[in-house]
Amino acid sequence: MLARPLAFFFFFAFPIAVFGQNTLAAAPPMGWNSWNHFAERVNDATIRDTADALVSTGLRDAGYVYLNIDDTWEGQRGAQGFIHPNSKFPDMKALADYVHSKGLKLGIYSSPGPKTCAGYEGSLGHEEQDAETYAKWGIDYLKYDWCQRPPSSVDEMKAAYTKMHNALVKTGRPIVLSLCQYGWNKVWEWGPSVGGNLWRTTGDISDRYAVMAEIGFGQNGLERFAGPGHWNDPDMLEVGNGGMTEDEYRTHFSLWSILAAPLIAGNDLTRMTPYTVAILTNREVIAVDQDPLGKQGFRVAQEGPFEVWMKPMSDGSKIVGLFNRQRTTEQMTASFDQIGIRGEATVRDLWLKKDLGVFNKSYSAYVPPHGVVLVRIKEK
Ligand code: GLA
Repeated sequence: MLARPLAFFFFFAFPIAVFGQNTLAAAPPMGWNSWNHFAERVNDATIRDTADALVSTGLRDAGYVYLNIDDTWEGQRGAQGFIHPNSKFPDMKALADYVHSKGLKLGIYSSPGPKTCAGYEGSLGHEEQDAETYAKWGIDYLKYDWCQRPPSSVDEMKAAYTKMHNALVKTGRPIVLSLCQYGWNKVWEWGPSVGGNLWRTTGDISDRYAVMAEIGFGQNGLERFAGPGHWNDPDMLEVGNGGMTEDEYRTHFSLWSILAAPLIAGNDLTRMTPYTVAILTNREVIAVDQDPLGKQGFRVAQEGPFEVWMKPMSDGSKIVGLFNRQRTTEQMTASFDQIGIRGEATVRDLWLKKDLGVFNKSYSAYVPPHGVVLVRIKEK
């Protein structure tokens, strides 16, 4: 029998030491972030109200657990160099306790530069102090956004992100690290090596179909860089913010799920239309995103504005998105050859939540303008 301290190490400490950071973000992170809707108007009350709304709307139970404060929470540093929140956040530890009491996790934001993108205090030169402060408050997620520091060599970027990763690890608290530097220097090739659990692949999204579509459909080719623990991040969701049609938001959510993208809602959760709630909480679509195989989907066919995308699932089924990027309804077809299905297969529509029957060789459907038909196809 192992001596007591040694046994303790192998049964408890060893798995945490070895696997602790790696089990973070085993599936793409899900949650909410303040920026897309509130920007600099976020404060303590916003976060508490959003925590309550995550619970009352069913979003938490659908998987949205990270409640992330974006830029503009930062105050001044004290004489010893430790950061304080500004007056919008009187007591960050108390806020974290509140968020945790709701079964949620709290995220925060900083920059490897001297200032953040909105001009608040950044972490440059204070990485260890900031990590220590976040851990003390009970922070579970850090978005680390390259601001006020010119785009630089890959080595400088790697060093800056590694520095914060090491500082977070040193605290002993599991904290998801979200890299944000807009895809510079092909971040997907080195994101995992600097401790990133996710990394933005593009510039900022906005609440417009054209911007969302350019970002989302532009992700093709990055699929081999994503997997459990490390994800491509095409930016946060705009679903429910009002700038797109219901069909366009379904396209947005379907595409992000096929991409195994982080699902970080960015709307006001205290005021949602029933269709916004229905989109964000569609369990069958969320299951596409969160599938344990962790494969990012990709485009299998394109004819002008008509794109067919596919995501392989852990049960052997294939998720297929028929995306119509033009402004009129069109019939589209997924050929089973293109998605690696032989013979007959069952087809289920994930937005209608309906089994459509058995099909041979292909599946066709009418797809609304800027819309999607999202199906699960399983070989018989
Ligand atoms: C950058 C990021 C955004 C947001 C703002 C905050 O633009 O890409 O997601 O965090 O900074 O200033």
